[in-house]
Amino acid sequence: MVAEASALTEQLNRSSNPYRDPLARIDWQDLDLEGWWLPQAAVSLHGIPAYERLPEARRIRLSQYEFINFIEKALWLEGIFMERISRALGNSLGQPSETLYRLHELREEAGHSLMFVELIRRSGLPIEPSAFTRPRLATWVGRHAPYRSAAFWIAVLIGEQVPDRMNRTIRKHRGEIADTIYDIITLHAIDEARHIVHARETLDLHLPSAGRLAPLYRPLLNRVFRQFVEAFYFPSPALYRLAGLEQPEAWARRAHANPVRIDFVDECVASTLRQLADKGLPVNWR
Ligand SMILES: [Fe+2]
Ligand SMILES: [Fe+2]
Repeated sequence: MVAEASALTEQLNRSSNPYRDPLARIDWQDLDLEGWWLPQAAVSLHGIPAYERLPEARRIRLSQYEFINFIEKALWLEGIFMERISRALGNSLGQPSETLYRLHELREEAGHSLMFVELIRRSGLPIEPSAFTRPRLATWVGRHAPYRSAAFWIAVLIGEQVPDRMNRTIRKHRGEIADTIYDIITLHAIDEARHIVHARETLDLHLPSAGRLAPLYRPLLNRVFRQFVEAFYFPSPALYRLAGLEQPEAWARRAHANPVRIDFVDECVASTLRQLADKGLPVNWR
């Protein structure tokens, strides 16, 4: 099992080269500040008649803020992950290929985070930290679950796959969104494909020893999963207010009750739920 994992790590190390800096690869001059940043189908209020009647400029602005919410949540998770990888490096003697792989992931996540911060800066949109609350339990698990534990790698897998499915859905609507946004999502998805393979393999290594803990994991896992879904798919009232919508609390409630949104989220989380169920970890998000 361990030998297989290290063969995979060596293969991932090979495919992590050559590295190209996302900040330098994105054509920032081309960023369209008046265009859709999410396809209409990926906006939380899509399908609600009162929302569809709003002027297009208002709906476009919401798509930009919802995309910023999405990458802000990615910044949150990448920050935790970089912290954990850095700490694991302190304990990496005698594991040269694992050490290399951690450094690759660290460099890649730092590159993504720099790209996201640059987009937020160039958007010129007013940002308030209160619009981007970060869920506490998921943060705690991410920061404190032991690095070599199933709980940590389940959190990593969910944290990488839930946004990745959204990325892949957005990419299917290439013609509807600004080219720069498409490029950002594409660069991210390419690196994440390797991270997800690695997280799956690592989780499989740790799961057998977690078998007797599974009943304890389940309620925790369910809450963490719901927090991820809420963070990525259901903007806070403050975000709707930033986007210029009146009665933001009412819009946030409508998003939660929006059947079009519920179907969209179902589709985005389906494969992750199936994988977890196959590992004896049934989870639901509603
Ligand atoms: Fe990333
Ligand atoms: Fe990642």
